[in-house]
Amino acid sequence: MDRVRIKSISLDTYKGSNITVCGWVKSKRESKNCTFVIINDGSCQSDLQLVVDPSGFSSILPAVTTGASIRASGTVQESLGKGQSFELVVSSLEVLGISDESYPLQKKGHSLEFLRQIAHLRGRTNTFGAVFRVRNVLSRLVHKFFQDRGFIWAHTPLITASDCEGAGEMFRVTTFDLGSVPKTEDGKVDYSQDFFGTSANLTVSGQLEGEVLCSSFSDIYTFGPTFRAENSNTTRHLSEFWMIEPEMAFCDLKGDMKIAEEFVRFLLANVIKEARGELEFLQKFYKDTSIQTLEEISSKDFTRISYTDAIEELKKQPASKFEYKVEWGMDLQSEHERFLTDTVFGGPVIVYDYPKDIKAFYMRNNDDGKTVAAMDVLLPRIGELIGGSQREERVDLLEKRMLDMNMSLKDLYWYLDLRRYGSCPHAGFGLGFERLVQYVTGMTNIRDVIPFPRAPRLIEF
Ligand code: 4AD
Ligand code: MG
Repeated sequence: MDRVRIKSISLDTYKGSNITVCGWVKSKRESKNCTFVIINDGSCQSDLQLVVDPSGFSSILPAVTTGASIRASGTVQESLGKGQSFELVVSSLEVLGISDESYPLQKKGHSLEFLRQIAHLRGRTNTFGAVFRVRNVLSRLVHKFFQDRGFIWAHTPLITASDCEGAGEMFRVTTFDLGSVPKTEDGKVDYSQDFFGTSANLTVSGQLEGEVLCSSFSDIYTFGPTFRAENSNTTRHLSEFWMIEPEMAFCDLKGDMKIAEEFVRFLLANVIKEARGELEFLQKFYKDTSIQTLEEISSKDFTRISYTDAIEELKKQPASKFEYKVEWGMDLQSEHERFLTDTVFGGPVIVYDYPKDIKAFYMRNNDDGKTVAAMDVLLPRIGELIGGSQREERVDLLEKRMLDMNMSLKDLYWYLDLRRYGSCPHAGFGLGFERLVQYVTGMTNIRDVIPFPRAPRLIEF
């Protein structure tokens, strides 16, 4: 007999039928004539109540303890008790894997900090079950948004020889024996003897390769892991995170902002439809989120403001308001971003045209000579969700910028070739997937929205 997932059981389809279910025991309640076993199989938020006659299963029931995995068959019937509309009256029961009192999820109401220490088991809690199922719904929606618009899902490499963001925050990839690294005559590491014949790293972004592919397919997107070796222990940073990077040929900054806004609004509008039950559950415990807020944000236009005007807005505040002094040319700190979203505009804000000195080499130079066609989408509570730009498509300006930044033209010749053979205006952005999941679920720590978080000194699971 095939196993039925708890998610698919309803009285309409299964009332009176005999089915088999599997799952992990959450609790067992015994009375004289009846034992109730609550199981969950992770397919949905709902548990299933098994009604077991203790006289028929006296040899098996002692091993049916919290955490054990079981298989049960029986008849689906309307439930007489409160809290569920149906239950399974068990005719056969089998323990597949035992569990004992040391099982750490015995009691209710564990802290998120504690659960982080048992990341290998936390998916069995209601909270993490909901968060990771919402993550799955959002992943599906990401693909739906771009696939419905004719974008090609492009797979860009995780191992690269370039540093897209130029911040030098990369993990090295090498097969050298670290105890005896080959050196050149002048004492430097001799990467010519390494696996790739040059130094290699885990990618911080798939953008440069994304630009290559958009130069053949017009509209592409990536959705995959990226890696950053920045030593920041914050609730918004991971060392390994997933990013979605669309890249569009024949598109300028305006078009880029438009699609970024449509994308975020689409995701919010649809996740509240497709994961309503999970979100309602999360909201009971984590007050940072509300379906109503997500709904409002998905239905209103995002505010757009140039970096220069944003600085003017921030300067209206007394200097004591912020830890970091507000000056044209500075990078916006999260306190500034949140002031703009939470206090000034009360919603998402797109800041554009940033000073070129604080942005990456590939961004398109504006005519003022001081700014580049960059944009960041900022969300209340989370801050930066998206970073993007129109790309510099003029080879002379790009080469000049790279030389100014001490970059090698030779190493990125293929990137420059795109500007030599059929160059076109193009633009794209990167959305940090975990920040999106954080925003939607209301989790305050980014480590609670990815099953196996990677951060400085955190790689246990
Ligand atoms: O702003 P970033 O660095 O932009 C890029 O990487 C561009 N190459 C994207 C592009 O134009 N194709 O990163 C994009 C987004 C940020 O807005 C943020 O949401 C997220 O990635 N992000 C992180 N998320 C979690 N942990 C980190 N350490 C992150 N760093 C960036
Ligand atoms: Mg950024």
